Amino acid sequence: AVRLRVREALGAREPVDAVRVQGWVRSVRSQKEVLFLHINDGSSLESLQVVADPSLENRDLTFGSAVEVQGKLVKSPHRKQNMELQAQTIRVVGPCDIWSFPLKMKERHPLEYVRQFPHLRCRNNTLGSLLRIRSEATAGIHSFFQDNGYVHIHTPIITSNDCEGAGELFQIETSSEAKESAEKTHFFKVPAFLTVSGQLHLEVMAGAFTHVFTFGPTFRAENSQSRRHLAEFYMVEAELSFTEGLQDIMQVMEDLFKTVTSTVLSKCPRDIELFHKYIAPAQKPENFVIPFIVILKTFFSSCRISYSEAVEILKQASQAFTFKPEWGCDLQTEHEKYLVKHCGEVPVFVINYPYDLKPFYMRDNEDGPRHTVAAVDLLVPGIGELCGGSLREERLPFLESRLQRLGLTDAYQWYLDLRKFGSVPHGGFGMGFERYLQYILGVDNIKDVIPFPRFSHSCLL
Ligand code: 4AD
Ligand code: MG
Repeated sequence: AVRLRVREALGAREPVDAVRVQGWVRSVRSQKEVLFLHINDGSSLESLQVVADPSLENRDLTFGSAVEVQGKLVKSPHRKQNMELQAQTIRVVGPCDIWSFPLKMKERHPLEYVRQFPHLRCRNNTLGSLLRIRSEATAGIHSFFQDNGYVHIHTPIITSNDCEGAGELFQIETSSEAKESAEKTHFFKVPAFLTVSGQLHLEVMAGAFTHVFTFGPTFRAENSQSRRHLAEFYMVEAELSFTEGLQDIMQVMEDLFKTVTSTVLSKCPRDIELFHKYIAPAQKPENFVIPFIVILKTFFSSCRISYSEAVEILKQASQAFTFKPEWGCDLQTEHEKYLVKHCGEVPVFVINYPYDLKPFYMRDNEDGPRHTVAAVDLLVPGIGELCGGSLREERLPFLESRLQRLGLTDAYQWYLDLRKFGSVPHGGFGMGFERYLQYILGVDNIKDVIPFPRFSHSCLL
């Protein structure tokens, strides 16, 4: 018998005489004359219907059990499905104690409930769909960059550079060093951290490959219980040489978003539909669920404002903010939300932030009296900041004097070198992958778009 995945069986054009399908039972319904099973193996949201003689029923054949079914794949008489499997044999490979199994047959468990079972929640429809979408989006991101001539770089996870204030750091020590921390010995001779951004490493590579990207785990010691922060998350970062202005960076952000989003939509429409039908509206009852196509279209009407304009808009708002908007202060989440609303719930690019607010590597706009740098943040409805980037200071004297004032000249000799040997205007950005998924799927809590919600239940996970 040919072994078929559920997805293949469901998509078969012709009946097949002898097939073998393996998976987990999603439903069992036994009637007098016929036994119905639904089997899922993670290859699709839809399960395969198995029709069997009631004599094949046995005590272990329950919801959640692992089974192998052999039989005939035939056209289904039901309109809802294409094919079904007429079973000749059903073997229970691994039984499942339904009384202690936390998932229940045909129940739509809330995300908060399944979050308690990080080791079992992937067998639930919602998390199954999420993880298939996450997988397709990952592949889509790699294809987007590869198709556009970018070289993928594995930037280090353990590094001594802290990307100057991109986020709070996790420091790395061996467990014995941690115990004897007073002695100040370091495994790598210098303090080492988990990366907060691969940007500086990408800048090195952009000086040889012109267009580069990285897509990997990123760590920030934010002890935040917020719905959009994680201590470990995935960041997509791109760096481009020979840029002519910030619009080059914004264009890549937009193209990346559009291309990956349409790829995901075409690869897993049913999985996406599940989120738009059941998850997004439940999380945000006041919001109209935005179908995908509308999300894509909103980008054609995306809004571009400067930081200074943003502050003016906020100052004129009738809404009372917890943090008073003031030129020179960071935009808070409440401000970002207001700006997105003000622009009509479309993505908003905010450019040219105060010089004193941003890290040393951002390019000086040489303006005044309100001195700014060429930074750009992309804010999106429901989430706030999705991408952050900038042009980098490629001019040696500017960079030298800025590093000098910060007392960082020695540590960044190598970075200054890049401005001595064939320096070019360049820039890049980072996009939070989990926030991207939250945005396109309408998921409220960032913990629900990662495979394993950290430390939520079992220390082993
Ligand atoms: O804005 P950030 O801090 O930018 C950088 O680190 C730049 N060095 C990137 C670059 O230019 N190559 O982070 C980029 C994005 C944010 O816009 C946000 O979407 C996401 O990373 N992000 C987080 N996502 C989840 N949890 C956190 N704690 C996050 N911190 C940042
Ligand atoms: Mg940022």
